[in-house]
Amino acid sequence: MDFSQLINHRQSCRNYEQKKVEQEKIITCLEAARMAPSACNSQPWKFIVVDEPALKEKIAKETHGVIAKFNKFSHRAPIIVVIVMEQGNFSSNLGTLLSDKEFAFIDLGIAVEHFCLQATELGLGTCILGWSNNKEIKRLLSIPKNKGVGLLITVGYPTNSEIRPKMRKKLEEMSEYNKYCK
Ligand SMILES: Cc1cc2nc3c(=O)[nH]c(=O)nc-3n(C[C@H](O)[C@H](O)[C@H](O)COP(=O)(O)O)c2cc1C
Repeated sequence: MDFSQLINHRQSCRNYEQKKVEQEKIITCLEAARMAPSACNSQPWKFIVVDEPALKEKIAKETHGVIAKFNKFSHRAPIIVVIVMEQGNFSSNLGTLLSDKEFAFIDLGIAVEHFCLQATELGLGTCILGWSNNKEIKRLLSIPKNKGVGLLITVGYPTNSEIRPKMRKKLEEMSEYNKYCK
């Protein structure tokens, strides 16, 4: 698969086969995330792979609630990866302060996308989850109180390999040359 095919094939997968994901594939995805760029190379992330079924079920339960009902599909994913936000290094923290941009969040997003693109290439489906009950997730995974949960990723084999058309802004809407016009 070349890069543009890969970009097109990556889509949020919300239905998974009840089939085990090979550990080598997860390691390859983690390696892809490990290679991601980050501000001042601070790599402010820790990926916790939850593949133990009973624990995974408990984590899935914390990805939806009374308001956020939409993440119930996470119960069907055989794996949920929880990404913990680690402290940045001195330079990136200083950069965050001076530029008024939260570099750690940007870094984490890039690493997560590396993971998802690699997963796509390996025939796996993923969905990034932004909503979760982090207090309970931290308790379940023994994540220290002073650390935050960034994003979660559901992982597994998709039940359907059909690629949906992408709903995106038009090129003219999302890009301009030399000046911000409208
Ligand atoms: C930061 C972030 C948070 C997201 N949170 C959720 C979520 O909680 N539940 C969900 O079903 N999809 C979630 N998504 C997936 C987006 O809805 C999806 O990427 C977007 O609609 C584009 O569709 P596609 O991924 O199929 O191309 C999230 C994506 C990102 C990048």
